[in-house]
Amino acid sequence: MKKFLIGFIAIAFVAALFGLTAVNAEAAEYIGAKKCKACHIKQYKSWEQTTMAGSFENLKAGVKVAEKKAAGIEDKDYTHDAGCLKCHTTGYGKPGGFTSIEETPELAGVQCESCHGPGSVYKTTMKTIQKEKKPYKSEDLKAEGLIIPSEDEAGCLVCHGGDSPFTEKVDAKYKWVFKERLEKTHEHFPLKYKQ
Ligand code: HEC
Ligand code: HEC
Ligand code: HEC
Ligand code: HEC
Repeated sequence: MKKFLIGFIAIAFVAALFGLTAVNAEAAEYIGAKKCKACHIKQYKSWEQTTMAGSFENLKAGVKVAEKKAAGIEDKDYTHDAGCLKCHTTGYGKPGGFTSIEETPELAGVQCESCHGPGSVYKTTMKTIQKEKKPYKSEDLKAEGLIIPSEDEAGCLVCHGGDSPFTEKVDAKYKWVFKERLEKTHEHFPLKYKQ
């Protein structure tokens, strides 16, 4: 009986541990690129130069008319079209994510969290790393929802594949080559505290 109890408690403990990390990552909410900018100004400035940052503009009428036509999209206002918003904003339909340009303008466009995952939980740990100049392992941040993009091509393909109107079938310039794309996300800078 005693052995049985100990076994039971051990299993319950392990289950609780796994349950907790899963809940943590799930509970993470989108916070917006401005929050990341405070600590990652170099990556932010580089990302800002990419088309991703201004991607919401492309949903307006009269913008990129020729490109839309080539993809079979009529020229009209798509800024409230759920079918487009899911790929041209950050965290659309998810906790803390983009809802509408009126309510959440700070989450328009394809921001940091589209590739790195929602930041409400991992940013707290990053704050501690920064404050205490504390060595850390990526695994710790990953348990809190951080995504290392080179490990998650599937995450890119949610937008770069699937029902995207802009694929290589329309024009070879939209061809998806993961390695090449990883390099064009933003400039990379060495990390100080990562072990
Ligand atoms: C939420 C949807 C979404 C996700 C997820 C996403 N992208 Fe994109 N990406 C876009 C959109 C939309 C554009 C086009 C921006 C525009 O022109 O409107 C784009 C453009 C790009 C560009 C071109 C930038 C430039 O200025 O030339 C690169 C590179 C890129 N994505 C890489 C990636 C990689 C790598 C991943 C995964 C780690 C990824 N994307 C995940 C939606 C997404
Ligand atoms: C499944 C995700 C997805 C959906 C849905 C989507 N887009 Fe995009 N869109 C993308 C990606 C990814 C790119 C960038 C393609 C690339 O650079 O290879 C893009 C690029 C664009 C571009 C820029 C093309 C260029 O050559 O500069 C425009 C304009 C655009 N989308 C408009 C729209 C509109 C309007 C809708 C809704 C009718 C829409 N998109 C729906 C993912 C999507
Ligand atoms: C299109 C995808 C994409 C977007 C959007 C993106 N990143 Fe990244 N980020 C990457 C990739 C790729 C790496 C390289 C690490 C890896 O995947 O192995 C990276 C690495 C980083 C690193 C590690 C250090 C470095 O410079 O490589 C930091 C910090 C970072 N990103 C912050 C940000 C911030 C802040 C934003 C928004 C302003 C952002 N990222 C937007 C793809 C993205
Ligand atoms: C309070 C400051 C702070 C905020 C806010 C913050 N970070 Fe960080 N982040 C850090 C520090 C410090 C590190 C470790 C840097 C180092 O080792 O030099 C880090 C590391 C990272 C890394 C590298 C992780 C790895 O192991 O490769 C990425 C990616 C990243 N942050 C993305 C983001 C994104 C995206 C946001 C916004 C959602 C964000 N950070 C918000 C301080 C912050």
